[in-house]
Amino acid sequence: MALQSALPAIETVAILGLLLLLNTRNAESRRSRIQGCFEYSAISCRAYTASLTDFGGVGDGTTLNTDAFQAAINYLSQFAGFGGSQLFVPPGKWLTGSFNLTSHFTLYLHKDAVILATQDIEQWPLIDPLPSYGRGRDAPGGRYASLIFGNNLTDVVITGDNGTIDGQGDLWWQKFKKGELKYTRPYLIEIMYSENIQISNLTLLNSPSWHVHPVYSSNILVQGLTIIAPVTVPNTDGINPDSCTNTRIEDCYIVSGDDCIAVKSGWDEYGIAFGMPTKQLVIRRLTCISPDSAVIALGSEMSGGIQDVRAEDILAINSESGVRIKTAIGRGGYVKDIYVRRMTMKTMKWAFWMTGNYGSHADENYDPNALPIIQGINYRDMVAENVTMAARLEGISGDPFTGICISNVTIEMSPHSKKVPWNCTDVAGISSGVIPQPCAQLADQGSEYISACDFPTDNLPIENLEVRTCSYRAKYL
Ligand SMILES: *[C@@H]1O[C@H](CO)[C@@H](O)[C@H](O)[C@H]1NC(C)=O
Ligand SMILES: *[C@@H]1O[C@H](CO)[C@@H](O)[C@H](O)[C@H]1NC(C)=O
Ligand SMILES: *[C@@H]1O[C@H](CO)[C@@H](O)[C@H](O)[C@H]1NC(C)=O
Ligand SMILES: *[C@@H]1O[C@H](CO)[C@@H](O)[C@H](O)[C@H]1NC(C)=O
Ligand SMILES: *[C@@H]1O[C@H](CO)[C@@H](O)[C@H](O)[C@H]1NC(C)=O
Ligand SMILES: *[C@@H]1O[C@H](CO)[C@@H](O)[C@H](O)[C@H]1NC(C)=O
Ligand SMILES: *[C@@H]1O[C@H](CO)[C@@H](O)[C@H](O)[C@H]1NC(C)=O
Repeated sequence: MALQSALPAIETVAILGLLLLLNTRNAESRRSRIQGCFEYSAISCRAYTASLTDFGGVGDGTTLNTDAFQAAINYLSQFAGFGGSQLFVPPGKWLTGSFNLTSHFTLYLHKDAVILATQDIEQWPLIDPLPSYGRGRDAPGGRYASLIFGNNLTDVVITGDNGTIDGQGDLWWQKFKKGELKYTRPYLIEIMYSENIQISNLTLLNSPSWHVHPVYSSNILVQGLTIIAPVTVPNTDGINPDSCTNTRIEDCYIVSGDDCIAVKSGWDEYGIAFGMPTKQLVIRRLTCISPDSAVIALGSEMSGGIQDVRAEDILAINSESGVRIKTAIGRGGYVKDIYVRRMTMKTMKWAFWMTGNYGSHADENYDPNALPIIQGINYRDMVAENVTMAARLEGISGDPFTGICISNVTIEMSPHSKKVPWNCTDVAGISSGVIPQPCAQLADQGSEYISACDFPTDNLPIENLEVRTCSYRAKYL
């Protein structure tokens, strides 16, 4: 029934011409509808568009739309081989539980569309834990499926003219703090085992836990996201690339109760066995406020390895630390070839922080001989002001963190700062042109080596990805 009545909804096309005529006729026959023309850039444009209202969606903020979303997407999935499809979410408040995406598909939110996550926990299906974690992050066993979930897909776009997806996480945060949850909290958007993904031009609010979680995926473009959650709530990380290759995150503004970006690759013996690193990651033009966490965290789950991360043009305000490496005995894996430049930091506890004893194990079966390798960490061309401690660099005894390079960095200490701004143990590397004078473990090379620390000059494949301009017309109430 829903499927048949949806057929006339295929009334919008990327290319004009004859089909524009059809559109005009439709508009005449439905004068009560608003005709809108939308333009945006995406990795692919789509041949077919339908509106959520064609599938019984009601945007009153109280009607549950889970079935409407899923029916629409199941219906539109048949166009995968015929130019792909798009689901238009009109202005309104669309309450929903978790739904699954499909391939060659765009979810487009009008600027006044708000997708609201239901707070009825019964509505959230349970799925298996991630194999590289062995268990849920909050609790052993399964986890709630994310609000917007994609598994085994290719060519998926989630975008809008800054439309909103609100996780209404308050209930989850409270239950988590009281220890009342049996399973791990859902994420706002999770895409797994997928490739060619774009998530852009959206406002994401109040996720129950992490906001954006691409995992076991490749070729991922994240652009123009505003992510906001209260700074006091648990684990509301912004964007967490996890065992992903070729990812580009740019032009994002993130304020949250945990790391703005946390780069991950699995947990202890499960992550080691799964063995899937995060590599070829670009992060640029990020603004972050994270009073209790990091602007960019590497770990703590890094057991599949993290390699070739390039971050630049970052503004950090009132955050606990700038770049933080978190690891522990038992993690195994590696964090290597990390390049960060042009970071401006205002009001920080630590500009740089590395922690070798983060702890937090999946279970007691981790291998005490699985030592992480932390090597080739490059920070250059940065200024910081009002900083309490310049750096706390804490390697692992018998497993030092090596190849650390810090050059051309000026850190202005706050009036309340510690007398010794650098605290280094079990680390080795070099420095040049760094104020205040670094610890002796980072041997000063003199000011002629001010450009000593590497930043690659080549482009990663994801930097060469080109987007197209897509335009289409839609009618909505
Ligand atoms: C969504 O996908 C998950 C995992 O792939 C599956 O368990 C679930 O049944 C799917 N839900 C729907 C409504 O198809
Ligand atoms: C993944 O998708 C492909 C193509 O759609 C399909 O053939 C395959 O069965 C899917 N695998 C799983 C595990 O869902
Ligand atoms: C998107 O909306 C958020 C929240 O209202 C706002 O802070 C942000 O500036 C908007 N972004 C753009 C690009 O308009
Ligand atoms: C989407 O975001 C990008 C980057 O922030 C911006 O350049 C572009 O104008 C935005 N597009 C729309 C349709 O808002
Ligand atoms: C040092 O870093 C600043 C930015 O903090 C930059 O403007 C300047 O060009 C850098 N100097 C060198 C020699 O690279
Ligand atoms: C400096 O940092 C402290 C916290 O360490 C904060 O209370 C104060 O407002 C900051 N000052 C400025 C000028 O930002
Ligand atoms: C320096 O760090 C070590 C741990 O690496 C810690 O035990 C010690 O208290 C710190 N010293 C200061 C002065 O903060």
